[in-house]
Amino acid sequence: MNRWDEEYKTGAHWETDRPSSHMNCLKKYLFPHCLILDAGCGSGKDVIFLSKQGYVAFGIDISKEAIKKAKEKINRERLNITLDVGRLESLPYKDGFFDIVYSGYVLHHTNISSSIPEISRVLKTNGIFYCVMFEDIKYQAASKFDESIDRQALFELLEKNFTFIEKPVFDSYDEEDQHGKHSHKRIRVVCKKVEPE
Ligand SMILES: C[S@@+](CC[C@H](N)C(=O)[O-])C[C@H]1O[C@@H](n2cnc3c(N)ncnc32)[C@H](O)[C@@H]1O
Repeated sequence: MNRWDEEYKTGAHWETDRPSSHMNCLKKYLFPHCLILDAGCGSGKDVIFLSKQGYVAFGIDISKEAIKKAKEKINRERLNITLDVGRLESLPYKDGFFDIVYSGYVLHHTNISSSIPEISRVLKTNGIFYCVMFEDIKYQAASKFDESIDRQALFELLEKNFTFIEKPVFDSYDEEDQHGKHSHKRIRVVCKKVEPE
């Protein structure tokens, strides 16, 4: 069983019924009937929130267990959400399909040289990519869950595929989960897909 399925089997610490605070910041980019993808939707808190707000919501996640849990919730609530098990590096959607892609705390777990162009591919021209992710996760005692990404490589890829419509936000905070105390460096970007010249 992969790391993610294990986390979802036992109950991952980010699983709540409350939508992410980023849904509030995303609001200004949403419009009636827009097609929105939650890329790395986990067990569904944000994709369910978006569907309940009346948007045409899709979710994808690498974890079968997460999608199973999300499907149980959407069936209980009789919502119409398309959910897929899959990777951000190879998205099962047509070119230019979505108006908006939201991704919360996922991109640093992917191979960004594939996932960023894929997200751009499935967005319409002028479509919005709203992404919050970690640049760095460091446990107090070194851990297999420590992660870091190359900020320069990330921004080069983003600039190649998008234009920024908000100034990127960088912050950091400490947290404790079942694996111990750790610090996060976080990045939030909001960008728009532009046609290549
Ligand atoms: C920290 S969780 C965040 C889940 C959800 N977006 C949220 O904010 O609650 C990270 C998620 O990324 C998913 N994930 C990791 N690598 C992925 C990949 N390559 N493609 C798609 N999903 C991936 C995991 O299964 C997990 O659900």
